[in-house]
Amino acid sequence: MPARILELAGADIHIFATPEDACRAAAAEVARAIDAAKKARGRAVLGLATGRTPVPLYERLVAMHKERALSFTGTSTYNLDEYYPISPADPRSYRSYMDQHLCRHVDLAPNRTHVLDGTVPEAFAAEHAALYDRMIAAEGGLDFQLLGIGRNGHIGFNEPTQMPVDEALKLPTRLVVLHPVTLADAAAEFPAAADIPTRALTLGVAPILAARSILVLAFGPKKAEPLARALTGPMTAELPASLLQSAAGRVTCMVDEAAAGGLE
Ligand code: F6R
Repeated sequence: MPARILELAGADIHIFATPEDACRAAAAEVARAIDAAKKARGRAVLGLATGRTPVPLYERLVAMHKERALSFTGTSTYNLDEYYPISPADPRSYRSYMDQHLCRHVDLAPNRTHVLDGTVPEAFAAEHAALYDRMIAAEGGLDFQLLGIGRNGHIGFNEPTQMPVDEALKLPTRLVVLHPVTLADAAAEFPAAADIPTRALTLGVAPILAARSILVLAFGPKKAEPLARALTGPMTAELPASLLQSAAGRVTCMVDEAAAGGLE
């Protein structure tokens, strides 16, 4: 149970004592989303995130699966992003992350767990990204999108830019250059600075915001400022998480007290 619930910019904010408490509630939300989508249209399509934030969520989903309280049959997943270039076999790839934290432990069919391909030749990257968007559309769109939030306010790897809001809202899946703050955070996973990929493939702002429901997780004091700006400031491409305001009514944030520090 959240300690408190707020409503800001059309999003429900559930504030929990700890990330583990939030992730228990988030796992229940994922299970509900799968169930509702399968009842409504015979399949469930989930957009998933990587990073430190959702680790306890995946632990909980795996535990629920082992307790036979959750099945992923009839479910497809599409991950938000992947470093570029990177081999899926590289332990730092997001494909490896998903395998380690979720896929190998549950009944997700391997051909239904989609991660953008960090080995695609650059000449085909745009085509590969466009195909990813078309595959999601062909499955009827995302029923549920899980998001973390970057210290610089990025969602997926849609990094801060100067473009007008209406252009940013239309951004498709594509190859991007990573922002210095993102590269600084990636240094934890890539101890040799020269190994940090400077680019990535990311799901676009448009397909993210088109999801029928969006769950944002944010934990710890470093997320307080971007979260508060996203929910209480103006919509701006300089803080991509603020673009979530255009999905008002479909966004839930599950946060801990530290990340909620700037909201009240
Ligand atoms: C990950 C992703 C990123 C992260 C964000 C927060 O797939 O798309 O936007 O959600 O960088 O990362 P953590 O959770 O490591 O703080």
